[in-house]
Amino acid sequence: MALKEVIVSDIVHETPSIISIYLSRPDGTPIGHYTPGAHIDVEGPTAITRQYSLCGRPDGDDAYMVAVKREPDSRGGSAALHDLKVGDALKISESRNLITIAPEASHHILVAAGIGITPMLSIARYLDVRDGSFELHYFASSEEQAAFLPVLMEKCPDKLHAHMGVQRDAQNEIIERMTGAAPEGSHVYVCGPQGFMEKVVSICSARFGPEEIHMENFHAAEPGDDVENTPFVVELDGESYDVPADRSIVDVLNENGAEIDTSCREGICGTCIMEVLEGTPEHRDNVLTAAEKEANETIATCVSRAACPKLVLDYY
Ligand code: FES
Repeated sequence: MALKEVIVSDIVHETPSIISIYLSRPDGTPIGHYTPGAHIDVEGPTAITRQYSLCGRPDGDDAYMVAVKREPDSRGGSAALHDLKVGDALKISESRNLITIAPEASHHILVAAGIGITPMLSIARYLDVRDGSFELHYFASSEEQAAFLPVLMEKCPDKLHAHMGVQRDAQNEIIERMTGAAPEGSHVYVCGPQGFMEKVVSICSARFGPEEIHMENFHAAEPGDDVENTPFVVELDGESYDVPADRSIVDVLNENGAEIDTSCREGICGTCIMEVLEGTPEHRDNVLTAAEKEANETIATCVSRAACPKLVLDYY
């Protein structure tokens, strides 16, 4: 995927472990709008690429803003971004969106834990200025660790439910109450650590269908111990190719002249998604929604495989 160069135009310390980084075009021209909930790939100084939600104003076009948490076990990704200085250069992708606001929903329930607040910021801001009906549940270990809490308290105090330092069992009760009280026509949007998102989805599934629950997932799925790859055939543009057990679909197709973009190569960013014309995928990604996986009309070709002898694919 083509990346574009940007410069760091400002850095703000939001909490002891989270900074906001403002990214501008080197020539000062507007960087452009994005849709609420969108994210970008950021290639840091160590050439490690990670996905970060855009959390400034979706309709402001002077700079992008991403929030980066310094991970204690960082292999150079978040730690290198925390060492940036104003004026440093970075490379970023075009924005993409995997957690769009559902136009059919009459009420939006945003649920975030920790750094998972980042995609919710632009969604909340978008809904707030348009008088959209929403509520924001923000779980964090403490107020000190809750990035953007002051601005949320200032801008949308009546929509914000700040759950600081809540133990796991009590979290369940809050989510159950929230689910039970949701008005008809609500959709749920969740982002946070993997275990937290699974818990929210599991509790909300008692009330909401898979198409009414939206997730932003920047974690690669853990491969199961008993998962074994088998070879299969993939067809594109009338040509068939063997996908051996130790190769991915996208690698085989690109080796044969297709030019399919990739970014994370872990099934979390959505760059490599293709359309499934025939056959049944075995989904192993964390990017498609439960409803999309059930529909079997798309596949993340960097990690997912076939649950049948042959898949016929097309560009998405
Ligand atoms: S390259 Fe990111 S999902 Fe496949």
